[in-house]
Amino acid sequence: MNKDIETLKKEALEKIVNAPDTEIENLRIEYLGKKGIIKGLMNEIRTLSADERPNFGKVVNILRSEIESAINERLSRIKEKQTEQIDLTLPGRKLPIGGMHPISRIENEIVDIFVRMGFSVEYGPEIETDYYNFEALNIPPYHPAREMHDTFYLEDGMLLRTHTSPVQVRAMLKKQPPIKVISPGRTYRVDPFDATHSPVFHQVEALWVDKDVGMSDLFGILDVFAKEIYGKDIKVKFVPDYFPFTEPSAEMWISCPFCKGKGCKVCKYTGWIEILGCGMVHYNVLKNVKYNNEQYTGLAFGIGVERVLMIKYNIPDIRLFYENDLRFLGQFR
Ligand code: DAH
Repeated sequence: MNKDIETLKKEALEKIVNAPDTEIENLRIEYLGKKGIIKGLMNEIRTLSADERPNFGKVVNILRSEIESAINERLSRIKEKQTEQIDLTLPGRKLPIGGMHPISRIENEIVDIFVRMGFSVEYGPEIETDYYNFEALNIPPYHPAREMHDTFYLEDGMLLRTHTSPVQVRAMLKKQPPIKVISPGRTYRVDPFDATHSPVFHQVEALWVDKDVGMSDLFGILDVFAKEIYGKDIKVKFVPDYFPFTEPSAEMWISCPFCKGKGCKVCKYTGWIEILGCGMVHYNVLKNVKYNNEQYTGLAFGIGVERVLMIKYNIPDIRLFYENDLRFLGQFR
């Protein structure tokens, strides 16, 4: 009899371990139910002799508790699984979606405008020589831009470019005219990090050298640029200025996009906002790159990317672009 119980136990435990979740309840009834196998064995006790009874009872009790614990084990696993199950009624967890940084976004926007006007994109190094950053651009040694407080000088005599204009020189040394390039990128100056300055900032440089390039081309191109960025109703005006590498030089002003030129806080009640520097490439600069400066003329301008962005969205503090607060940056997605 005990032998049979051993086989029965083996069989039962195997079944319990291997049965699918949905069968466990049936097995429980089959073995432990009121009319189940264990109950049947208990009922057999009556048919045994008095000295067989205690041992048999003991064996059946052990069998029952083993089957019980095997079944309970399975049931608690099933319960665990059920509580782990996905609750389809819960709202989904949002995955944070990244986006382009507003500076990159406006930079691309600016570049696209000029690419549509036939400019091609050219990149230059951020670590420059004195020659490309100053000398070749007709910036004499006594020019204020050369003073230590403006320029980050490196130990080996190199420097961090203070503007994107050196790319003009690099482009012209690579290729004879006609040349029509724009060059976006980072620029550096020893400035305090305050509301209107950042030691790192961005510019987009433009250069077009050809026969018969004139100031009307410069003004026309920049007028299109202003209207593309700020809207069709924007007016531009050019005011004489000085840059060592252009002659004549000008600064471009746009009518205030916020008050439409009426005068407001943003434009300091003048109706106009200064936006960039430009001019006709200086005779000496053309000479420095061995262009025929009798035959060719060129236009150039340099756009401050952060400035364009700050005016477009009336952002009062340049630091907002560099502090990486997603509550701010997320608004530009
Ligand atoms: N490089 C000048 C600056 O950083 C900006 C500039 C002015 C660039 C006039 C030009 C230009 O190409 O023609 O202040």
